[in-house]
Amino acid sequence: SEPATSNISAIESWEHAAAAARSCRRCDLWCDATQTVFGEGTRNAPVIFVGEQPGDQEDLAGKPFVGPAGKVFDRAMADAGLDRTQAYVTNAVKHFKFQLRGKRRIHEKPNAGEVKACRFWLDLELGFVRPQLVVALGATALKALTGETGSLAEARGRKLALPDGTPLLVTVHPSYLLRLPDEAARARETARFVADLASILERVP
Ligand code: URA
Repeated sequence: SEPATSNISAIESWEHAAAAARSCRRCDLWCDATQTVFGEGTRNAPVIFVGEQPGDQEDLAGKPFVGPAGKVFDRAMADAGLDRTQAYVTNAVKHFKFQLRGKRRIHEKPNAGEVKACRFWLDLELGFVRPQLVVALGATALKALTGETGSLAEARGRKLALPDGTPLLVTVHPSYLLRLPDEAARARETARFVADLASILERVP
């Protein structure tokens, strides 16, 4: 198949970017993944959410945040009074990275090179959507967007911005909530996540 273009200025629309990303070979993750999972949602959305990478179900569906983490995200968005369909939702990395254990595909964290390679697509998405606010869901998104490897806890709740000045809100990844073993901790952290999301309404009225 045709190689994806490496020339960012040759891609003049979101549709073109989404189509070109399907044959992306900028890193090796395409080899084992089912398909590219590009961002989706409202094309001129005021807010763009950036996750880490598609999971098992997203890889099969070709859509971001449709699996267990997506369910947590949807619920928190609704509880925060936000409409996901009016936002744009994407990931720092567009292919599912996993390790095969028996029949199960176990999520594996993308490395710095993979995140960097995929910035190409994230930059295009940011450029076409031109949001008023970018929301980083978790450390990988934060790293992809800012290059900063600092702790999520430190970045969370602070007024940050991308290098181009676009306001940035940092919160946890919904999978973090799923991994909390203690029910009380999960309830507390989920409420905090919902509060982070609700704060979007103050920044993007
Ligand atoms: N986790 C992510 O970061 N993104 C998805 O799309 C699904 C799970």
